[in-house]
Amino acid sequence: MRHLLWAGCFQLLPWQAGPCTRKLTTAVTSAVATSHCGPWLLAPLAASSSSPSVSKGFLQPPILGSRAPCCWGSQFNVPPSALLVARPVGVCSMMRLPVQASAQGLDAAFVGVPLDTGTSNRPGARFGPRQIRAESAMVRRYNGSTGAAPFDSLRVADIGDVKVNLYNLPDSCRLIRESYQEIVASGCVPLTLGGEHTITYPILQALAAKHGPVGLVHVDAHTDTGDVALGEKIYHGTPFRRCVEEGLLDCGRVVQIGIRGSSYDPDPYEYSRQQVRGSTAGHCLP
Ligand SMILES: *[C@@H]1O[C@H](CO)[C@@H](O)[C@H](O)[C@H]1NC(C)=O
Repeated sequence: MRHLLWAGCFQLLPWQAGPCTRKLTTAVTSAVATSHCGPWLLAPLAASSSSPSVSKGFLQPPILGSRAPCCWGSQFNVPPSALLVARPVGVCSMMRLPVQASAQGLDAAFVGVPLDTGTSNRPGARFGPRQIRAESAMVRRYNGSTGAAPFDSLRVADIGDVKVNLYNLPDSCRLIRESYQEIVASGCVPLTLGGEHTITYPILQALAAKHGPVGLVHVDAHTDTGDVALGEKIYHGTPFRRCVEEGLLDCGRVVQIGIRGSSYDPDPYEYSRQQVRGSTAGHCLP
């Protein structure tokens, strides 16, 4: 059981910064040491390390101190290879990355927003972040076609979920906005696992508060620029109208792709076109 617990928690730990202290001793007989294995050795119980974790907030192994994993001198977190750590092993984080309590010290962070109370139909997106995390165990760290290796140059972790209020949509928006303000304040780029479309509104509020009006690539069947439904201004069909009203979008740099659903208006694209015309990039329209 000790071994099981250890294997489960070991993979949550980040690569550690500082000079490499390969403190694997001769007692390390169970470690799988091959050239391609990265940091995801099965650390033996006898291995020691100078410090248990680089930054505050990382989950700690149940056995602290001398049983922390070996240090390989990298400042990055790397998804464990399934060649070394079986896919179903460990806490279910995005790509099995380390789980961290805050965005502090990260270049990018996966964050879940398990909200679906703004949807008009087919609720269930509240389970999205969990399901995405579960499926993400299949994703490997390199793109063999493009050579993309994001984890070699960016420090990334899973920082858990926004604590939404399922019984109060405006309050959920506040909670999301405040959580994202905290994430971007530390210079971290949030990578969101939703959640339905309402969440883009408070997320963009937080981003625009830091960066000013932002560009947007929106892939959807609908423009989500409605005004009111059932008397409410906030639901999954209105986020981008609210964003435009609050000046959160640089409309000349907004692209909506895949819009094709049936609509309430004869010309569902008119509102979006008007915003682009009103922007500095309006002359680019056909
Ligand atoms: C690799 O990157 C290309 C270009 O972004 C993408 O089309 C493809 O799906 C990626 N392949 C994998 C396996 O991620």
